[in-house]
Amino acid sequence: MSFSRLWIKMGKKTVPYFVLLLVSVFLGVILIQIFTGHKFMDILPAMHSSSETNKYSLFSITPIRHSKHLMVSTFIDHRINKAIRVISIIRRDSLQPLYCIYCNNDHNCQTAEAEVQIHVDHFGFPFGASDVLCHGAHTQSATRVAISTSANISEIHNEDFLPIKNEKTHESFMFNFTVCISSLFDSYNNVLQFAQTVEIYKLLGVQHIVIYNTSCGPDLEKLLQHYKREGILEIVSWPIDHFLNPSKGWDFMYHGGEIQYYGQLVTLNECIYRNMYQSKYVLLNDIDEIIMPYKHANLQLLMEELQQQHKDMGVFFIESHFFPKTQFEESGRFSRPEWRNIPGVNIMEHIYREPDRKDLDNPRKMIINPRTVVQTSVHYVPQKYGDVFFVAFDVCRIVHVRSPQQGTLTKDQLVVDKRVWDFASELIPNTRLYRHLV
Ligand SMILES: *[C@@H]1O[C@H](CO)[C@@H](O)[C@H](O)[C@H]1NC(C)=O
Ligand SMILES: *[C@@H]1O[C@H](CO)[C@@H](O)[C@H](O)[C@H]1NC(C)=O
Ligand SMILES: *[C@@H]1O[C@H](CO)[C@@H](O)[C@H](O)[C@H]1NC(C)=O
Repeated sequence: MSFSRLWIKMGKKTVPYFVLLLVSVFLGVILIQIFTGHKFMDILPAMHSSSETNKYSLFSITPIRHSKHLMVSTFIDHRINKAIRVISIIRRDSLQPLYCIYCNNDHNCQTAEAEVQIHVDHFGFPFGASDVLCHGAHTQSATRVAISTSANISEIHNEDFLPIKNEKTHESFMFNFTVCISSLFDSYNNVLQFAQTVEIYKLLGVQHIVIYNTSCGPDLEKLLQHYKREGILEIVSWPIDHFLNPSKGWDFMYHGGEIQYYGQLVTLNECIYRNMYQSKYVLLNDIDEIIMPYKHANLQLLMEELQQQHKDMGVFFIESHFFPKTQFEESGRFSRPEWRNIPGVNIMEHIYREPDRKDLDNPRKMIINPRTVVQTSVHYVPQKYGDVFFVAFDVCRIVHVRSPQQGTLTKDQLVVDKRVWDFASELIPNTRLYRHLV
């Protein structure tokens, strides 16, 4: 139905209602401004035409026209001759020549053949995390880039361009520790575990958490909004399900779908480049994991010591250990009224850790210096500059409260590990307000 037909149908009589509607929208906007401190133009960026970047894609995923591929975000890579790196999702069986069209602020554009690097870990899925690299003259002064199947600049639309980030390097960082959490999806609503995890991470010195949101449950939504307002949480919209049929697992043969685990590898790599000149260290772990120092009070003291002993190392492996959520601590001292009605797992009640298994390595996650990493996977770093270091289990390990892996073990076959209790006196007051959120 066209707008003009709607107008005629409304007739003369309804015009006052229409005016009323306009007035209330106007008042609504003023109220939003007052309450959020946002200007109207910030809320509706698409209508804001004076700024250069807003003409380009506003979404975190952009299709490459006339192809099955997608691009995500773009960065200058100062380590490889200031090439432009476009984090992308490439359909592996549909490779075709691709071109980079990059432009500076004076609208001078250059074309270069793109170099496509598909990451080795695609787990058999048709789409894989990839880098599209643009090498050429003046890449360092480019402010936007488009990937195209055609080298003809007149065929590129304004919406195909992505703004280029990391144009400048920094020696000092806004954050010392950033946590990257990949792909939140379905109706995940484990609010209490997330709140406790964030609060413990804050006490450990984390200043910034980035989470890629495809979807989440109603209560977690409120908690995410709370942490976003507080400033510690950056939520990247990740509507991968609008473009592909994402897999809920990592094994194509078993889980099916078009890309591994909601594009986990794409988001982890995006997060590293996003934080390259923003954060001294980046922690790559899942939403239900805490990278926990056992001999130091916080991450700062841990990394000072590790980095002093291992100057050339940029990747630190941390073992993950399972704490079954099926085994409860007996005294019930942490079954507290302020947590009782919050949906999710109370990690303070699960202090029984599964022992190591013979001939089986524990899975590992990482603390990295992002400037030493070129490409990352989930449990290792396939392309990097520095060396890697395996941090001893008694120095730092991951507290991972989840369903049991060794489900047949009884309580006395598990190991008591109460490290999270060290945070109790601060955790309880810090999470008090969540009762009112959910
Ligand atoms: C580039 O594309 C434009 C618009 O489609 C077309 O008019 C022009 O002939 C093309 N140039 C070349 C060299 O193919
Ligand atoms: C990061 O750590 C350094 C010490 O290495 C400290 O001086 C600085 O204040 C910390 N930055 C932030 C944002 O906490
Ligand atoms: C997460 O994504 C869903 C789906 O787009 C959206 O409805 C929800 O508001 C998002 N949550 C946050 C906290 O951004």
